[in-house]
Amino acid sequence: MTRRPFVGGNWKMNTDLESGTALASALATELKHGSDAIDVVVFPPYPYLQSVGRVIDGSSIALGAQDVSSEVNGPLTGEVSAEMLLDLGVKWVLVGHSERRHRLGEADSLVAEKFAMAIESGLSVVLCVGETLVQRTTGHAHKVVLDQLASAFECIPADALARVVIAYEPVWAIGTGVAATADDAEEAHGVIRGFIGSRYNSELASGIRIVYGGSVVPVNAKTIFAAPGVDGGLIGGASLKPTDFLSICSSAMIGIATG
Ligand code: PGA
Repeated sequence: MTRRPFVGGNWKMNTDLESGTALASALATELKHGSDAIDVVVFPPYPYLQSVGRVIDGSSIALGAQDVSSEVNGPLTGEVSAEMLLDLGVKWVLVGHSERRHRLGEADSLVAEKFAMAIESGLSVVLCVGETLVQRTTGHAHKVVLDQLASAFECIPADALARVVIAYEPVWAIGTGVAATADDAEEAHGVIRGFIGSRYNSELASGIRIVYGGSVVPVNAKTIFAAPGVDGGLIGGASLKPTDFLSICSSAMIGIATG
């Protein structure tokens, strides 16, 4: 099955109003509406969502947010609800990013609640999973990823899977300059696809998009994306440089066509 490539730019806690809108504008100029057989999504910081949304309006780039509350509304200081994001034109959210799991203490159960809330609200979700270096070196990588998936997908109905992309992001590869090899990514993606097959069915398993994230840069993107089970990438550092990010988007289109 041919899956439409997906590339997300996770800006994390970077940019300011001026540089964020300039970055978005540089991307929008290149990625004009309807011209690309790829889903490209940018995930700016919350305060810049509306401004970036205006800049990319009319291009083929969709707007994403880096987080979402697990609750509908109410006394939750600092939280941002799915409805608020939808109000601003947000289509995608990241859920379960390793920085939120490991640096901000989000447990699997909270990740699952956020995932369910986002899906119920009509958002599309990039669900991030991945093992730490210790978990990998002690032989637990697959179990960790499978446990994260089992918890996250517990309440997700089959008909929502068209709005889900899974990002395999080994924690040891994020922001370190040490990307997984194409073979490592292919193996992990196979495990993830196998999970979707047993949790749902083989048709949904072959249709779901699984992208790789962790130190993807223009020089390694083509090789990683050429792996048949890799459907694109979630890009951190390199998404802050328009030429690098656009080059990675091109590699995703080539890699997925030939992989
Ligand atoms: P990186 O980040 O590309 O800077 O390694 C990826 C991510 O955290 O999504």
